[in-house]
Amino acid sequence: MHQDYFPPGIVVLTGAGISKESGIDTFRDPDGLWNRVNLEDVATLEGWHRDKKKVLDFYNEARGLFRAAQVAPNAAHDALARLEAKYGGDVTIVTQNIDPLHEMAGSKNVLHMHGREGEIRCMKCSTVFPSDADLAIDSVCAKCGAVGELRPNIVWFGEQPMHLDEIYAALDKCGLFMAIGTSGQVYPAAGFVLHVRRRARVRTVELNLEPTENQTLFQDHIYGPATRIVPPYVERILAEGWKAGGW
Ligand code: APR
Repeated sequence: MHQDYFPPGIVVLTGAGISKESGIDTFRDPDGLWNRVNLEDVATLEGWHRDKKKVLDFYNEARGLFRAAQVAPNAAHDALARLEAKYGGDVTIVTQNIDPLHEMAGSKNVLHMHGREGEIRCMKCSTVFPSDADLAIDSVCAKCGAVGELRPNIVWFGEQPMHLDEIYAALDKCGLFMAIGTSGQVYPAAGFVLHVRRRARVRTVELNLEPTENQTLFQDHIYGPATRIVPPYVERILAEGWKAGGW
């Protein structure tokens, strides 16, 4: 029960919307990635087994664009880093994003549930390596020597998200759950709000550009661009303490 922890922990679930104003496209908005690219081809195991080169070329190109864009954290990432630094209790950021913008803003307690940029994994021996290098179908695993088994360390549809034990432990003792910039269409992340609401005295707030399909699951709603709505909300929590959440 979160009452055992004072001040209560805060879990912040972030999605692509928080990085939109840093210049990274979302997935499901009209200009989103999944409206331009067939996700079955590049973000499923079936796609990988069908055409590894297509998958690797897609991520190589995405990595190149990402580097060239020189993206930087925005005011919403900065505000969450400040929340972690100044709030007296635990702040856990659970992000579905693979970009490093939370860490670049200074957040320390960040769980990348869908993997992260800059890491590759061998499908044969499961070793994870830090690497920004492009991958090809003849790339060799430095650990086991397997050829053509290296892939981005990113969770594809149908695969198990990462850090779930830590995530549910944080959810089970939080007093405030914030979801920022996520459409709530991908599970298990979309189910976190219901998971925390099984407990009494937990406050849940959706901060998003617009209402999502999950909006009725949240008690509080704040709509607008993340850079405009997240900083004042964070300042309110810091100024008023745990009471700002209203729980
Ligand atoms: N500020 C706040 N929210 C925004 C902004 C903004 N500037 N711009 C867009 N949004 C909102 C959109 O309204 C939408 O609800 O961000 C949300 C983005 O939703 P998705 O594109 O579905 O992204 P996300 O929820 O992170 O997707 C989840 O799906 O395929 C995947 O693995 C990928 O982690 C990703 C997962």
